[in-house]
Amino acid sequence: MASNKKIIVGNWKMNLNVQEASLYLHRLSKIIEIRRDVEVILAPTTLTLQSLSLQVNGRQFKLAAQNFYWRDHGSYTGEVSATQLRGIVQYGLVGHSERRHIFNESDKDIRNKVEAAVRNNIRPILCVGETAWERANGETYDVLHDQLVGGLANITSDELSRVMIAYEPVWAVGTGQNALPTYVSAAVSAIRNQIEQLYGKIAADSIQVLYGGSVTAHSAADYLALPGIDGLLIGGASLNADSFGEIVRKAHRGSLIVERK
Ligand code: 13P
Repeated sequence: MASNKKIIVGNWKMNLNVQEASLYLHRLSKIIEIRRDVEVILAPTTLTLQSLSLQVNGRQFKLAAQNFYWRDHGSYTGEVSATQLRGIVQYGLVGHSERRHIFNESDKDIRNKVEAAVRNNIRPILCVGETAWERANGETYDVLHDQLVGGLANITSDELSRVMIAYEPVWAVGTGQNALPTYVSAAVSAIRNQIEQLYGKIAADSIQVLYGGSVTAHSAADYLALPGIDGLLIGGASLNADSFGEIVRKAHRGSLIVERK
């Protein structure tokens, strides 16, 4: 099940320009301690990745792309490829609900991106999750099945160890609606079961699964304490240095033990 190391990802979405992102990283670097049992990943806008990669202390923070195109080079005006991001980021979000639902990314686009990330030595964080409508119609597990099968179709068993999954129910993203920990637990079990069907038990036990959706400094510990959860994907609360710092502190093993008592 979940490893000892917790992963906290801050997805800044389309916020902060180059100068603001640099100042914010500087502030975060004063607040967040380097811990061996917590990995902190920042996902700023593509525009800021190059400069932040020069500024960042790689032991303290890793960088993730929020998006990229799946082809490596060519006539794709306006796009940035995983090949171009290689060496700048260690991770890439793929299939975020905002990409799926605002930009109409299909499972085919998503599986090509997962494959492109792996091909370019970038670890993909494949995001999956049901909409409010799908949940209300009892389709949550079908959606998770389809998004996992669709998103991982080009990935071999060996390559799966490079992939991370993030469960983000769309109805909880940016809405302030908290998913009940029991609900999250059941969905994460379904995700691991699906991985087991596709890749076997060892893969299902060892794949890292994150949770995201309106997580705050207040709710973080409840989700982090769930068996099967390896970390959190934070949107809004990652834009406030104090609350993001607090979430990272809660992921530290010592804090988790205290809070679970
Ligand atoms: P919020 O934490 O703002 O709900 O966003 C979650 C998210 O989409 C992270 O990728």
